[in-house]
Amino acid sequence: MGGAVSAGEDNDDLIDNLKEAYYIRTDLVERAFRAIDRADYYLDEYRDNAYKDLAWRHGNIHLSAPCIYSEVMEALELHPGLSFLNLGSGTGYLSTMVGLILGPFGVNHGIELHADVIEYAYQKLDSFIKTSDSFDKFEFCEPSFVVGNCLEIPPESRHYDRVYCGAGVQKEHEEYMKNLLKVGGILVMPLEEKLTKIIRTGPSSWETKKIISVSFAPLVLPKHSPKSKPKTAPLRKSHFRFAEIVLLFVNVPRIITHTKTTQHLRLIKSSHIKLGIILEEEEEEEKETGELLRPQPAVNVLRERILGLPLPEPLKMYLLYYREK
Ligand SMILES: C[S@@+](CC[C@H](N)C(=O)[O-])C[C@H]1O[C@@H](n2cnc3c(N)ncnc32)[C@H](O)[C@@H]1O
Repeated sequence: MGGAVSAGEDNDDLIDNLKEAYYIRTDLVERAFRAIDRADYYLDEYRDNAYKDLAWRHGNIHLSAPCIYSEVMEALELHPGLSFLNLGSGTGYLSTMVGLILGPFGVNHGIELHADVIEYAYQKLDSFIKTSDSFDKFEFCEPSFVVGNCLEIPPESRHYDRVYCGAGVQKEHEEYMKNLLKVGGILVMPLEEKLTKIIRTGPSSWETKKIISVSFAPLVLPKHSPKSKPKTAPLRKSHFRFAEIVLLFVNVPRIITHTKTTQHLRLIKSSHIKLGIILEEEEEEEKETGELLRPQPAVNVLRERILGLPLPEPLKMYLLYYREK
């Protein structure tokens, strides 16, 4: 899939071509695409191919073509503060671009079938946070990824403002996908060989629009025999607990302004953003289920982790205080 626009010499050149061909149409999307070098999501030995408008596959690692990602990013109508779920989040390339638009009060979750791909995605994310110049120019909503089959998300999970599915969806799963959305939310997915945009207009009403013809590998179906109880994908708050630990850096910038290293500042900046994610999750769960699904066991684990952080003691105490308060 892809090949709709000419190959670029580098990332900017590719984005110029996508703009010229009208795949990228808005400044916000253009900015996100320019901020992330597509080649950084390739294995080193294949980097040279990254600026072609082509999908790339190596083992379990799979990137869609740039023209598809452009259509997806435009169709999602992203803006700061939204909650986003990426089904089949792969390398994290799309999730990272989306995170640049969602900003500090967004929610950015991904679910991916293959553990090795999640590991790859986290390596790429770390490298983006530690080394990219773009990171300093955006308020980033850092993605969190979990391993699981996205067709097994428990029905009590939260709803999202925006959902994207990166693998082909069969007609029989259309309803399931539509129900992941909040009212007013937008779902973009390949459905019956068409990139499809669905807006949830009410509790039981949706509007559907076909965007372009596409060819995607289909979603892998859950493995369970008719006799066994289906597993559920771990898309629960507790699986984003690492993010919660990091949220404890709230207000850190004011406290340790004397910390000079870029690394620290980057960590603080990305961690600060997590606060928005967790607060919003708690709020929404209260609203949607009527009860607060707080993670049960982790307070002591969190305490241990905080105490183990490479931070000054007073700051650790402050973080513990904040958490326990
Ligand atoms: C085209 S890739 C998506 C790439 C991703 N958009 C990115 O930015 O790298 C499709 C991904 O869907 C994953 N996948 C396929 N079926 C899945 C399922 N049932 N549940 C979760 N992930 C699935 C594949 O492992 C693959 O990583």
